[in-house]
Amino acid sequence: MAATGSEKQGATAYYVSTPIYYVNDAPHLGHAYTTVAGDVLTRWHRQRGEKVWYLTGTDEHGQKIMRTAEANDVTPQAWCDKLVEEAWKPLWEHLNIANDDFIRTTEKRHTDRVQEFVQDLYDKGEIYKGGYEGPYCVGCEEYKLPGDLIDGEGEFAGQKLCPIHKKPVELLKEENYFFKLSEYGPKLLEFYAANPDFIQPESARNEVVNFVEQGLQDLSISRSTFDWGVPVPWDPKHVIYVWVDALLNYATAVGYGANQEKFDGTFPADVHLIGKDILRFHSVIWPAMLMAQGLPLPGKVVANGWLMVGGEKMSKSNLTGIKPQDLTSHFGVDAYRWYFLRAISYGSDGSFSWEDFSARYTSELANDYGNLASRVAAMVGKYFGGSLPEATAAGDAERAVQEGLAKAVATADAKIGEELDFQGGILAIFDFVKRVNGYITEQEPWKVAKDTTPEGQARLATILYTAAESLRGVAVLLNAVMPETSQKLWESLGAEESLGALADQKVQDAGAWGTLPAGATVTKGAVLFPRLEEKPA
Ligand code: MSP
Repeated sequence: MAATGSEKQGATAYYVSTPIYYVNDAPHLGHAYTTVAGDVLTRWHRQRGEKVWYLTGTDEHGQKIMRTAEANDVTPQAWCDKLVEEAWKPLWEHLNIANDDFIRTTEKRHTDRVQEFVQDLYDKGEIYKGGYEGPYCVGCEEYKLPGDLIDGEGEFAGQKLCPIHKKPVELLKEENYFFKLSEYGPKLLEFYAANPDFIQPESARNEVVNFVEQGLQDLSISRSTFDWGVPVPWDPKHVIYVWVDALLNYATAVGYGANQEKFDGTFPADVHLIGKDILRFHSVIWPAMLMAQGLPLPGKVVANGWLMVGGEKMSKSNLTGIKPQDLTSHFGVDAYRWYFLRAISYGSDGSFSWEDFSARYTSELANDYGNLASRVAAMVGKYFGGSLPEATAAGDAERAVQEGLAKAVATADAKIGEELDFQGGILAIFDFVKRVNGYITEQEPWKVAKDTTPEGQARLATILYTAAESLRGVAVLLNAVMPETSQKLWESLGAEESLGALADQKVQDAGAWGTLPAGATVTKGAVLFPRLEEKPA
């Protein structure tokens, strides 16, 4: 059995990747979806105290990019440089994406290593020269099987279309170099059987297993009709197929062939996050390339569903017209990061709607969560001059809240940290928020406050301590999803001063009751989720 991510030799980094995105246009909601998911996953693991490596980047070669650059009258390199610097990197910064590296496939640290990798396979006899003729989709940058195509209608009547891009395929005939992918079918099936979690979700795994069971064809790994790519080292009239070039980013970015120590401590990825459109590349071709080179295989390939528009995958050609920045300027960056993971079960398709986002923002973020935080801070201010009182009169109701927090921690840690069930994890945290709201409604601290006996004041102190300590746990648990508002809450609870940086609080310890010390200075900070303005026209 080949090694998996969990069997890394002497390695410590939990390595997560996003796909590297084509830079033919600016990023849209769909790209941001996968990237935010990866950011939440890696922030979660960082906050467990683990060493983490989060990689994203851009895929800059191939015919699609070349044609876009030509249409815009610039060189492909100039086009890529502009898009990366003016659109891609700024969006990730805006969305608070804490990637450790950003790889571009036009960088020398990548292209040199890609040539070495392919040369090695050639020297080992894994690559041969042959001819191929078949339908090609430039949108996918992939040869299609005739059975995969759909019949065109309307302006495309009589033509065969790519089922994903709904555009006519082109018939290509070329003399190419081929990788002996067909020989890896049995080894791949053996690997899938030995590692049942390798491809997620289950539906994606089944699709891949069925596909491989039908027998694999060898893979054309070079192109000679255009030159925007990495030259094949032994025959520079050819460029390396853009997908072979792109997949190798996961190795070159962490030191393959250049920094052995870094490579051993990071590679292979524990999780490759991808959209389901690029499943076969990651779960068939990529592991076969690694097997051919004797390198260890990734831990998991996890496919997310598609954000849909009008029943179709959201793409450059059918965008909603809504850019990520249009949503963040209205709802805020944190709410944006939260919304897609909260509303759509990871792995399933989902549609975006402004109305749904507004409704959830108001009921879950502003009312349930934001109001709880401001009410508790206001009451500690009003009744105890902003100094968190001690809980000396706890009873069953308080014990139930404590248990609720412990359960939310365990559930969120398993769901977000292990299962990549972001929705399930976020729901567990918000169920706890609801529970704390229920506790306050039942305990009616504003009534207890009127009881000026020592017992009455001890009860009041206990209720407010319990609520504030619960919020301390919530701030830790939500930090991966909504770092800015968690920080605001953290500061308003006086936790920064008494407990130190929020990022240093371990998620697995977030349920340790009694962490926030009595005497902490609680202040009514900025409103976490302000009332929404009117929807822009
Ligand atoms: N360049 C290749 C990937 C190479 S990885 C070695 C590519 N790029 S892409 O720009 O088309 O982006 C693909 C990824 O963006 C998808 O796999 C998915 O993760 C994300 N998404 C793009 N559109 C999406 C939706 N409409 N919905 C959800 N995710 C989407 O393919």
